[in-house]
Amino acid sequence: MTKTQTPMAEQQQQNNILSGQKDLAHKTLLHSEALYQYILETNVYPTEHESLKELREMTEKHPRNIMATPPDEGQLINMLVKLINAKNTMEISVYTGYSLLSTALALPHDGKILAMDVNREYYEFGLPIIEKAGVAHKIDFREGPALSFLDELLKDVRAHYYILYPSQNIYQS
Ligand SMILES: C[S@@+](CC[C@H](N)C(=O)[O-])C[C@H]1O[C@@H](n2cnc3c(N)ncnc32)[C@H](O)[C@@H]1O
Repeated sequence: MTKTQTPMAEQQQQNNILSGQKDLAHKTLLHSEALYQYILETNVYPTEHESLKELREMTEKHPRNIMATPPDEGQLINMLVKLINAKNTMEISVYTGYSLLSTALALPHDGKILAMDVNREYYEFGLPIIEKAGVAHKIDFREGPALSFLDELLKDVRAHYYILYPSQNIYQS
């Protein structure tokens, strides 16, 4: 429990971790559930790729869904990848792959994502949808702690990445 957290807030947080949580407003900059829902319904959901929608809905049923990237953030990543014409990206922590798929859909056909996660099962949960979307060939998934892969990459002077998406504090584990 942090200094400012009440016991009730801590209990709520525990419940969210244990049972999963559908409400993602707390994860965005807005901090207003009503405004967040309005933006989702008028802007994000109508333009969300059908495979991302399928993955999001499937992930909502996963017990650790609190870890998922929110769909508005997925759209931002997708836009950034296109804006800078990224070709090689890195995904540090994948979970079920929402931001991974969003990136993969934005990359050109020969684009590549080096994706790392300590838990392969999470990645495999979403993999059938990524395969169905026709972008699995862009993904090089490595199972293990990201820091060790990053240390290896530092030794390779040819490595050249445009976007890094570290959605996990990799220094903790
Ligand atoms: C916040 S989620 C990632 C969200 C994901 N990008 C998405 O779009 O839903 C956290 C993930 O980090 C992974 N993880 C935890 N420690 C890690 C580490 N040291 N290296 C790589 N992945 C790690 C967990 O297994 C979990 O899947």
